[in-house]
Amino acid sequence: MSNERYLTFALGKGRLANKTLELLEQIGITCEEMKDKSSRKLIFVNEEQKLRFFLAKGSDVPTYVEYGAADIGVVGSDTILEESRKAYEVLDLGFGKCRMCVCGPEEAGELLQHHEMIRVASKYPNIAKDYFYNKKHQTVDIIKLNGSVELGPIVGLSDVIVDIVETGSTLHENGLKVLEEICPLSARMIVNQVSMQMETERIRKLIDQLKEVCQ
Ligand code: PRP
Repeated sequence: MSNERYLTFALGKGRLANKTLELLEQIGITCEEMKDKSSRKLIFVNEEQKLRFFLAKGSDVPTYVEYGAADIGVVGSDTILEESRKAYEVLDLGFGKCRMCVCGPEEAGELLQHHEMIRVASKYPNIAKDYFYNKKHQTVDIIKLNGSVELGPIVGLSDVIVDIVETGSTLHENGLKVLEEICPLSARMIVNQVSMQMETERIRKLIDQLKEVCQ
């Protein structure tokens, strides 16, 4: 045990990290240090189990994992698709379920039918591009936004948006609708490709234990 190296987890900050920690606790992996909400520390260690955890912005998690700064990452499949980093996606953790959709005012539905040149606002320009160019074969103008994307069609920046829909209440409260569904989303575990070779046994065991509790 003492010769083991630390396995490092990068967790997407917020709800995903909290849910992941709950899941890890169920398989006996704990990190007491992380429970202190007043702490400003960025990295937390479980000396006994030789584990380290850090909280990162969700969109940075695949980057840490690709470069091996983290062996394991937990992040939404939206981020995995958008970032297209090299890593093994090993497990659907079954929480954080939502959908990536094309949304807009009902009238905009018509614009999606005839390959018209339209404006699409999104925090996910790569997902939007892939969907419109490769799946729908529709040439569109994609405008990258960083949040509150629903504003796009409301203030006349774009015709439609590509965004995450969870409960649908943000759309509903802003008079918008799901026009097309792109794909379902959920939290996924990703693993650095070299770590998977070097620490196969430990990581496989972890995946198997998590499978038992998350399905
Ligand atoms: C996400 C997403 C939608 C909203 C969907 O935004 O971009 O705006 O949640 O959830 P709902 O269907 O349950 O209403 P987030 O809260 O991450 O904020 P942001 O858009 O400002 O990044």
